[in-house]
Amino acid sequence: MFTAPVPTQGLNHLGIAVASIEAARNFYESVLGAAFEGDEVVADQGVHVAFFRLGDGPSAIHLELLEPTRDDSPIAKFLAKRGPGLHHVAYTVDDVAAALASAEQAGLRCIDAVPRRGAHGADIAFLHPQSTGGLLTELCQPAAHAVSVHS
Ligand code: CO
Repeated sequence: MFTAPVPTQGLNHLGIAVASIEAARNFYESVLGAAFEGDEVVADQGVHVAFFRLGDGPSAIHLELLEPTRDDSPIAKFLAKRGPGLHHVAYTVDDVAAALASAEQAGLRCIDAVPRRGAHGADIAFLHPQSTGGLLTELCQPAAHAVSVHS
């Protein structure tokens, strides 16, 4: 029987690179009707992150706008090279450490050797676009207290 190496439970969020959250949020809030869910700075990644929700209930979609806080951050480099737009897709996993180990074993190129702490206290790990058909892919294990919010 086939068992997927990295079983995912659904879409967690879409990560969208922007030059300015303040400038970009108008489209999501005023045009698409998204609800602001909070923001935070992830200092070691040099990124300011703002979360928005589209819709309610189990089918709600979460968007993560990513704005660089310094010129040498990964998001700043992405913007310089590719411009604003879709940066990554994040899938929910039950156990990110197990999923990462399994991805490595399956020969996928992983950016993180071990999971790191992301926004909202989630444990996350990234798979390299070279192994995913070109799209940076995040595996996201929500913090225990946040599971009901994001599932
Ligand atoms: Co993300």
